Amino acid sequence: MPRHLDHWTLLGCGALGGVLAGLLAEAGNQVSLLRTNDAEVRLPLQLSWWDLQGHEHHFEPDFLQTKDAANIRLLLVTTKAYQVQSALEPLIGQLPSATPILLLHNGMGTESWVRRAFPDNPLLLMVTSNGALRLGSEAFRHTGAGETWIGPANAAARAWQPLAELLARALPHAGWSEAIHHKQWEKLVINAVINPLTALSGERNGSLLQRQDEVEALCEELLPLLQRHGLSGDLAYWRDKVLQVARLTADNYSSMQQDLACGRPSEIDFITGFVLREAQEAKLHLPLHQQLYQAIKAKETP
Ligand SMILES: NC(=O)c1ccc[n+]([C@@H]2O[C@H](COP(=O)([O-])OP(=O)(O)OC[C@H]3O[C@@H](n4cnc5c(N)ncnc54)[C@H](OP(=O)(O)O)[C@@H]3O)[C@@H](O)[C@H]2O)c1
Repeated sequence: MPRHLDHWTLLGCGALGGVLAGLLAEAGNQVSLLRTNDAEVRLPLQLSWWDLQGHEHHFEPDFLQTKDAANIRLLLVTTKAYQVQSALEPLIGQLPSATPILLLHNGMGTESWVRRAFPDNPLLLMVTSNGALRLGSEAFRHTGAGETWIGPANAAARAWQPLAELLARALPHAGWSEAIHHKQWEKLVINAVINPLTALSGERNGSLLQRQDEVEALCEELLPLLQRHGLSGDLAYWRDKVLQVARLTADNYSSMQQDLACGRPSEIDFITGFVLREAQEAKLHLPLHQQLYQAIKAKETP
């Protein structure tokens, strides 16, 4: 039976990490924030966050550094996908091998490196459609409710199913999924269509409701790859799924749109880039997704 279920260490206290840290603390968990790079932390520090009803909350987490790794019992990684490797690298050989690692980011493609770097650690994957905003280095806002799924990426992770129940006490609609890769692929399809299209146009997600032919064509190109990964669903299913998210988030700008608009790197290599690498392995050609990938790369600040 796993212990220390109520002491979470978060690596990556940005928009999502900040809100999750607040929600976990509010539900009675001990929360520590880990930095594995050189950025300085001013102590003691009180973090503020606003819940979905607009209520303000405060909490004072512990701040950890790489040298504290031996004391970490549960590690939730909430960096951007392209920061996962550099953020975890300093922990190789330092993190106890019994400590579960939970990866939570958009896109796919970090898992294989983490498996190689931490071969004995239980590895869990998380997918969420909650929304979060960073208002400053110490202030965060929960902007949208959504589902959260957690599931095992290796055999050692199966013993950690109780984490789902614990998460569900902190944020609504959290559950365990043995088919967590399917959940990741579902989110990947949505991100692979909505993110590059809106990042290139600079428009809100709702703009895609006027571009249904393009949405459909992008979904159609993905179908053989999705079938290869065991995801059922015909063209109408995937098109409607993407359009439903565009409708529900019509007033929002996608994260890729925001990243490009702010001159930050995007997660394109872990979204469309991952899709294209998987397609290449399967000898499938996805010219429309290839075009989007190149267009985003050209727009990304070097
Ligand atoms: N925000 C949302 O609504 C939302 C919803 C669903 C999924 N997601 C996904 O969740 C992931 C995180 O998104 P986000 O919006 O929270 O991004 P974010 O605000 O950029 O947060 C990432 C955080 O990781 C920190 N970080 C990077 N390297 C670190 C290290 N070595 N040690 C400690 N901290 C480190 C960054 O710190 P610095 O700022 O100092 O670099 C930053 O605070 C992304 O994959 C995103 O697509 C986000």
